[in-house]
Amino acid sequence: MRVTLVATAAADITADALAVPVAAGQRLSGSALDLDRALGGLLSELLGSSEFKGRIHEVLPVPTNGRIAARRVILYGLGAPGDLDGQRLRTAHHELVRAARTYGYKRLALLRAEPLDLETLTAVVEGCVMGTFERRSRQTGAQPERGEIEELVLTGFGQGRDGEIAAAQGSGEATNHAREWQNAPANELTPDALAQEATKIAQRHGLEIEVLGPADLRAGGYNLLLGVAAGSAQPARLIRLRHRGKQASASAPQTEGTVLALIGKGITFDTGGISLKDPVTMSQMKADMAGAAAVLAAIDVIATRDLPLDVMAVIAATENMPGPTAQRPGDIVVSADGKTVEVLNTDAEGRLVLADAITHALRNGATHLLDLATLTGAATIAIGHGATAAVSNNDQFWRLVEEAARRAGDRVWRLPIYADYKVLLRSQVADLRNAEYGEAGAILGGMFIGEFTRGRPWAHLDIAASSWNTNSELTTVLRGPSGAGTRICIELAELMAGAAR
Ligand code: BES
Ligand code: MN
Ligand code: ZN
Repeated sequence: MRVTLVATAAADITADALAVPVAAGQRLSGSALDLDRALGGLLSELLGSSEFKGRIHEVLPVPTNGRIAARRVILYGLGAPGDLDGQRLRTAHHELVRAARTYGYKRLALLRAEPLDLETLTAVVEGCVMGTFERRSRQTGAQPERGEIEELVLTGFGQGRDGEIAAAQGSGEATNHAREWQNAPANELTPDALAQEATKIAQRHGLEIEVLGPADLRAGGYNLLLGVAAGSAQPARLIRLRHRGKQASASAPQTEGTVLALIGKGITFDTGGISLKDPVTMSQMKADMAGAAAVLAAIDVIATRDLPLDVMAVIAATENMPGPTAQRPGDIVVSADGKTVEVLNTDAEGRLVLADAITHALRNGATHLLDLATLTGAATIAIGHGATAAVSNNDQFWRLVEEAARRAGDRVWRLPIYADYKVLLRSQVADLRNAEYGEAGAILGGMFIGEFTRGRPWAHLDIAASSWNTNSELTTVLRGPSGAGTRICIELAELMAGAAR
């Protein structure tokens, strides 16, 4: 999809359809009102009769009968202006593009009108690009349900904003890459296949890459990762990519020596291991590598933009299977960091592999840590699919992550870490236990990982709920794979690199 910015009046743009945003309870104004006049009051009539209400995700194509250059106007709803945040803005445009593809439009124009201000350009483009995503790529034979938009023409956003558009397209496409990886079946996207994807990205940009296999992992003492992998025939992979940003060192004392590590949970399939999951929950577990997908997609963009910041992506990739050599509940494992862990529940495997991944990042010079993981069902209980649950050990770093999430239009909500809860991580027989805390599941999953950060600024994003909305009633939150966290990683690197510019 080509995205172009024009200064043409809306009525003069040739397109299959001209999209016009409408907020609930708002009247047409400005350029939308001009367009309405050119159409003989057709739009205000539809709004006045409440045939179109401006509800979020409402989409209505309207014939223009030759009164303007576009063959159709397509009204799309943004919901109440007071409810409109970056996330809803993106899903509204996601749905607009999906609808336009269903109608078979090839050339889609979009008029900026109230309540969209000039600042929304990034959100509009990202949302539209995300709307080009299709999960049906493995279906044979049948005619595709939706077509492709060839060109998206934007008017009313001013001029000379090609850089912003290109960046937004990059972020939207990266989100879709992550979604595609989430969607890939586990027999295809094995730990080694994930390592190959990482290798392709590294080769494209000339990034440093290291892929550790079982023998290297044993040598490095990464026994938590090896323990999770023990029941699987697929060898584990600990993947590390490194983008070395050309730092404007003299002008950037703040970022000198900063190495941001983006750490992703890459469980390519989670059966639960010996603590086996029920079939319904298990059937969703091909996407237990959504954290890995997000950091991989993000570092691709970070390298493309050649951000002046050192960034590494670390991915702990393995299956969690109940094979004959699987670890057992009650096993005690020595982490790479030296702490002993009692594995009370083999299904709490994410925190195990992430602990070793964090140690690996620290061994390779990470100064700031952001981990992304489909870690707990409790994240869904706590906040639902509308946002990512987070914890952090550092207010200053958290503020950066929160600002990155705001810019990304990808909600995060920080849960507290209470020192009182540390006793719940204690084991009778080892330094830590990996489960059976009894309460505060999302917090304690995060706190377990936090035990391995050696006091470095760290934030943990539990994307178990936000990376895949399974609630069929919750229709205005992206359904299926969402690529949650991808744009947060990109925006965080941008923010941290910004200080160096
Ligand atoms: N991958 C799951 C968490 C998950 C659940 C992700 C639902 C996406 C949707 C994770 O490995 C897991 O099994 N967590 C356990 C932890 C518990 C045993 C402490 C959980 O949440 O039940
Ligand atoms: Mn699990
Ligand atoms: Zn898992």
